[in-house]
Amino acid sequence: MTRSNSYPTDLSELINLFDFEQMAASKMTRMAYEYVASGAADEVTLRWNREAFDNIKLNTTVLNDVTKLDTSLSLFGKELAHPILIAPTAFHRLMHSEAEAATAKGAGLASATYVVSSFTTTPLEEIAEIATQPLWFQLYVRDDRAYTKDLIQKAESLGYQALCVTVDTPTPGIRDRQARVGFALPEDVIAHYSLGEIGAPKNPITWKDIEWLQSFTKIPVILKGILNHEDAVKAVQTNVDGIIVSNHGARNLDTVPSTIEVLPRIADKVNQQIPILLDGGIRRGTDVMKAIALGAKAVLVGKPICYGLACGGADGVAKVIQILKDELLLAMILTGKTSLASIDRSVIWE
Ligand SMILES: Cc1cc2nc3c(=O)[nH]c(=O)nc-3n(C[C@H](O)[C@H](O)[C@H](O)COP(=O)(O)O)c2cc1C
Repeated sequence: MTRSNSYPTDLSELINLFDFEQMAASKMTRMAYEYVASGAADEVTLRWNREAFDNIKLNTTVLNDVTKLDTSLSLFGKELAHPILIAPTAFHRLMHSEAEAATAKGAGLASATYVVSSFTTTPLEEIAEIATQPLWFQLYVRDDRAYTKDLIQKAESLGYQALCVTVDTPTPGIRDRQARVGFALPEDVIAHYSLGEIGAPKNPITWKDIEWLQSFTKIPVILKGILNHEDAVKAVQTNVDGIIVSNHGARNLDTVPSTIEVLPRIADKVNQQIPILLDGGIRRGTDVMKAIALGAKAVLVGKPICYGLACGGADGVAKVIQILKDELLLAMILTGKTSLASIDRSVIWE
């Protein structure tokens, strides 16, 4: 048995995203929990991803008309109901027997865009059949570039609406906690598009590969894993459609800065030429607001989705997104902002 979520969870007990983590720890196998929860090495960046949000103070304003609130946005030519996306995370079958199918259903219930990982344990076709909200495909460029091209074209033909190319993982990070539990995939957890390729690529991608992808890809290309503002400038010069400021949930190189800390500098350099998204440590609606105020158009959530899945399958995933959205609405009311476009630096107490 790879998971222990056979008995139902009363989701009404789970009030915030931290509750989900606590509950998930008791629902998942030790190996699965350590896989999801751990960060690289000493987990310094993992702590900073949270502390940096906590250290940003918000600025309220009173007596504003906040009767009509709008969390919608337009991203890559599509209308989204709210700015909270499901980040790509691997191996959902470790967390729930319905795996990525449950995540897609949860995304549907919560009107959220779902970025499906290259390490999905459910075929892309099955997820596409179940999804009622936009799907994006997260790509790890494999050593076999012909296979990579086929995979992209498959995702496109199935209706995946954007290609999210992960650029921050030429080698996997040091994960002491995973090593301690001897992390290995159970036999029934099969990553369909990565057989034999889990580990460091022999031929990691470069900017030239991004140009190669762009030469045939028909959907927007987004680079996931930008932390350095000079890389952000190169991304703009390479004509990608968007970037995701991410430190891979603090799982790759320990002691890199938190994502919210690097966001303002990147936003300044990108100067609104392409949309910036951000992930890493988003656990509260106020974090979503802070990310938007400092230059992100939308955010993605990783670990809490895995915990939602472990606690309650599709309903758990949906509840995680719903809590964040409700908390964002509350933060909008209390800062006098009725739309995402109006959330600017004035909400940050400086
Ligand atoms: C269990 C787990 C698996 C992940 N798998 C992938 C993956 O397959 N591809 C990818 O680009 N990022 C992957 N990530 C990183 C997430 O997409 C995202 O950047 C990160 O989780 C965001 O931080 P958060 O977990 O604090 O929300 C993974 C993260 C976790 C926690």
